[in-house]
Amino acid sequence: MNNQSQVKVGPPLWLLAELTYDCPLHCPYCSNPTELGDTKDELNTEQWLDVLTQARAMGAVQLGFSGGEPLLRKDLEQMVKHSRELGFYTNLITSGIGLTEKRIAKLKVAGLDHIQISFQGADPEMNDIIAGRGNAFEQKFKMAQSVKAQGYPMVLNFVISKQNISQVEDIMRLSCQLNADYVELATAQYYGWAYDNRDHLLPSQQQLIDAEKIVNEFRDKQQGKGPQFIFVTPDYFEVRPKACMNGWGSTFLTIAPDGSALPCHSAKMLPLKFPNVKDKSISDIWQQDFSFNRFRGDSWMPQPCQSCDEKEKDFGGCRCQAFMMTGDMDKTDPVCSKSPDHHLIQEAIERAKHPKNPLLERVNKRSIKDADIVQIKL
Ligand code: FES
Repeated sequence: MNNQSQVKVGPPLWLLAELTYDCPLHCPYCSNPTELGDTKDELNTEQWLDVLTQARAMGAVQLGFSGGEPLLRKDLEQMVKHSRELGFYTNLITSGIGLTEKRIAKLKVAGLDHIQISFQGADPEMNDIIAGRGNAFEQKFKMAQSVKAQGYPMVLNFVISKQNISQVEDIMRLSCQLNADYVELATAQYYGWAYDNRDHLLPSQQQLIDAEKIVNEFRDKQQGKGPQFIFVTPDYFEVRPKACMNGWGSTFLTIAPDGSALPCHSAKMLPLKFPNVKDKSISDIWQQDFSFNRFRGDSWMPQPCQSCDEKEKDFGGCRCQAFMMTGDMDKTDPVCSKSPDHHLIQEAIERAKHPKNPLLERVNKRSIKDADIVQIKL
């Protein structure tokens, strides 16, 4: 089915450049695919620079460098510089492992606008257990201080799960201490490794209610001063699905490390053939490729979405979630209380009360040695 004739396609305003799936951390909430590609298939510098040029020419304005850990790419500074010259607003989404004061300065000279550092907990013990790496907290703490000292706007990202939700207040205090500008307290999204680990990660409704109360009380005490906290609860406790990616193929374009072009970071698992920037121009991909047109508009929608008066608000929810939970990417997102599959969400919430399967640590295709982490010439 091709919905293109009925849907006006604007530019991909937001480009996510997933530079590598390699990562020095092992967080069980990672949303990278569990089938990680080979590092040898990654786009080279020239190919990435071309992707950035093409996307900007199409009207992309926001650019996120992400991964895996984007700092593992020694050509990151080159990409940042090129993006700045093209006029992108650039954001580095990093674990902070691999940053040094000098590299932060070098990225600034290259034109980087914004840095987002992830933490896994409020203290070294919790942080390093979840991250699966010793001294990770210490490194992140130092680098967050340096990011602020060097004048960047800074976002801290804490993925909240059953493992660390009891630390919400301490996390907020830590964020104040680090003088963050924005802080995302975002409960895990259940994709990739996080989907396989969902029973260990999904908090109970009561835990979420308690955490939200703490966040609200803390905000009241701040009286408008200090970091701005954004608390994001899992859609599993909602009655309507999220408008995933602001609608398929409407705003977001993700380029995976091997050059696959995707409407969202998880789409590769879907039974669709996605194009690769090694074979096709970004303009052809965005405007004409079957996979990008597949869920544009509403003609693909099943019931109850088709006759729902909220279909233009949530676009039928998340295609990846529908596929993971029902095996059919065309179905209504089971989060919706009108979905005939909504019981699957209820069952997942119940199962998470008593996890039976072991917690999986996120692994890489290759082992990342300390020598791989900071080897850029400064
Ligand atoms: Fe793929 Fe929602 S994450 S459509």
